[in-house]
Amino acid sequence: MKFHNRCLLAAAVALLGATILPASAAPSAALSAKYGMCFACHGADGHAILPTYPNLAGQNKDYLVQTLKQFRDGQRPNDVMGPMAKPLSDSDINQIAMYFAGLRSTK
Ligand code: HEC
Repeated sequence: MKFHNRCLLAAAVALLGATILPASAAPSAALSAKYGMCFACHGADGHAILPTYPNLAGQNKDYLVQTLKQFRDGQRPNDVMGPMAKPLSDSDINQIAMYFAGLRSTK
């Protein structure tokens, strides 16, 4: 049930991203479908939905790649991010890191 709600939230956030964000910041439909979960917490524009979640917009790509691999491989244990990163391949990580790194931070 919890998972289901997050999916709905992800869909809503993705939809919002597609409609109100400027074209340059809106993720493609393919990215939204694949990483909508991430956008539900970190924002499609890379600005987190809660102040206790990190903003990722404009973060260094290499740092994002490194930290996502650490979450995935258990070197940076985290109850939330561990399961999120688990299914990601190296090329997924590269793709989503490039996306967030390419966004402009407005904070
Ligand atoms: C349920 C909310 C949630 C979801 C969904 C989520 N994250 Fe996170 N993310 C967090 C939180 C909370 C942290 C901080 C973890 C910590 O304490 O280290 C975090 C940390 C991170 C970090 C490290 C930031 C830093 O400054 O070190 C990255 C990168 C990241 N998330 C990417 C992703 C990606 C990519 C996805 C989708 C596969 C995702 N997150 C899904 C909540 C979430």
